[in-house]
Amino acid sequence: MCGIIGYSGHRPAVPVVIEGLHHLEYRGYDSAGVASVQCSDFEIVRAKGKLSALEDELSRRPPSHATTGMGHTRWATHGEPAVRNAHPHESNDGTLAIVHNGIIENYLEIKADLEAKGYVFSSETDTEVLVNLVQECRRSEPDLLKAFAKALRLAKGAYAVCLMSREKPGEFLAARMSAPLIMGIGTGEFFVASDIPAFLPYTRQVVFLEDGELARVDCQGYQIYAIKDLSPVSHEVMTIEWDMQSAQKGGYRHFMLKEIFEQPRVVADGLAGRVARGSGAVHLPELDALPVPERLHVVACGTSYHAGLWGRCLIEQWAGIPVQVEIASEFRYREKLLLGPRDMVLVISQSGETADTLAALRIAKEQGVPLLGLCNVVGSSIAREADSVVFTQAGPEISVASTKAMCSQMLMLALMALAWSARKGLTDEAFRAGIVDGLLDLPKKLEEALPGMHARARELSRKYSGAKNFFYLGRGHCFPLALEGALKLKELSYIHAEGYASGEMKHGPIALIDRSFPTFAIALNDDLLPKVKSNMVEIQARQGRVIALANEGCDLGADDVWIVPDAGKPLSAFFVLPALQLFSYETSDYLGKDVDQPRNLAKSVTVE
Ligand code: F6R
Repeated sequence: MCGIIGYSGHRPAVPVVIEGLHHLEYRGYDSAGVASVQCSDFEIVRAKGKLSALEDELSRRPPSHATTGMGHTRWATHGEPAVRNAHPHESNDGTLAIVHNGIIENYLEIKADLEAKGYVFSSETDTEVLVNLVQECRRSEPDLLKAFAKALRLAKGAYAVCLMSREKPGEFLAARMSAPLIMGIGTGEFFVASDIPAFLPYTRQVVFLEDGELARVDCQGYQIYAIKDLSPVSHEVMTIEWDMQSAQKGGYRHFMLKEIFEQPRVVADGLAGRVARGSGAVHLPELDALPVPERLHVVACGTSYHAGLWGRCLIEQWAGIPVQVEIASEFRYREKLLLGPRDMVLVISQSGETADTLAALRIAKEQGVPLLGLCNVVGSSIAREADSVVFTQAGPEISVASTKAMCSQMLMLALMALAWSARKGLTDEAFRAGIVDGLLDLPKKLEEALPGMHARARELSRKYSGAKNFFYLGRGHCFPLALEGALKLKELSYIHAEGYASGEMKHGPIALIDRSFPTFAIALNDDLLPKVKSNMVEIQARQGRVIALANEGCDLGADDVWIVPDAGKPLSAFFVLPALQLFSYETSDYLGKDVDQPRNLAKSVTVE
């Protein structure tokens, strides 16, 4: 939530900062702002709404020539979206300005103390409290670095912050605690940002700051210190392998559409080097580092949670490992967490920064169980804190609604199930080779199927976009897909949608069914089809309209049938998923909603 960027170098800073904010806007878009020092005074420009509003505001002003600056794009936590709550925030004495991603949990206590000392606040944010706390700390500790570290030691919660002072206009300080912050190392220019694409046009050399670290940055270089005692810290400079093109729309109307259409490539990349046609062997050294678990606890949020539910079916069936899948925000607050010595926790997160998932990982770590991560973002907090990480290699996912990430997570979960199954000797080589061949066929089949699926999604979205409610039903491994279909529809089109296990309808939800309440039924050609059919008939008997997502040759009697390729159970899921994504995409676009940046959401949920 929220994106921050700081720059110090040889170019005019404001355009660099604005360009960076464009790549961070997926993290929040309630307001945006920039700060630089001009003629010994802060020039702070802020605007409510998307970055374009800030750009309009800047276009009415003379260009800034400052070569150090910082910026922010906000996802509101404390205080409504409004200019007064937009960052950067200034200290009362006007000497300091700050941008912040995260939440200072004890800000009300600090604010009360500061108010008692005469400080006044013009926003409702925790961030304005933090910058004034730094000002206050300078009364006893005039050195800014020391005062900043002292203030950070008093603040509890999560933050990635960038602080500038009027007296040193060519320098900024940056710090992180439980929120992402990466430094970009250029030639005569240095960056910090919440995500790498913000500075990728300028450098691929990065340093991942760790929690509890603080950096001093100017155009000559940087120094990193531990916040606790200001002892110097050094980190290896790493090189980012992917390029800017992977973080751009590439001719598609929206990032979401591009990312849906990238799924054949995502599957191909995920399989490369891990499997070979005709062989049941799976090369996953990340798993070999850990013992085969007797019980697996999968912990994740949102779409990643749905991927975990899907993976459970395969891991239990093929590898004979009992799996519990839990929402991270629940797992982390379990009254009594009973993890056994041979259990394993698998955390799934596209961003690798989701606050609840990260907290769940840390709680599991305290119990000493092996921790496996399934992450997309290399260098993310979860990736760094897990004992071993399987990377999904999906490339940057920019659209706020997750699509290709789920496909890549499902793929890796299938490979894990096969690998564990082989290690336990539970399936034979021929069975596993059959699955591997099926997976290797997916990229081509998906590539061929996607354009037709897109056209069908468009037709159906036009027919059903007037509905105010939707059910998504599935059984077995299609139940998690139903949950995901409903999540995609509600978050993108703001149509109320519920995912249900088909068999659960008769226990209450079916009371809602009438002609105006359509149902998406995932009715694939597998052993559960007769059961799903019965559930569809029950809905139709109550005048409910049914769209059946089915395979060729199934006689379903639905109001609309959408045929998707049959790759057998469970691999047909790789066709169901993009069908559901495309239906939500088209519905949202047809209704004129903001597909890539739906209201009230943000890509990386780094707050509780
Ligand atoms: C939905 C969506 C979210 C994320 C969730 C977890 O489209 O994107 O539900 O899946 O916030 O995010 P990660 O996977 O980054 O932990």
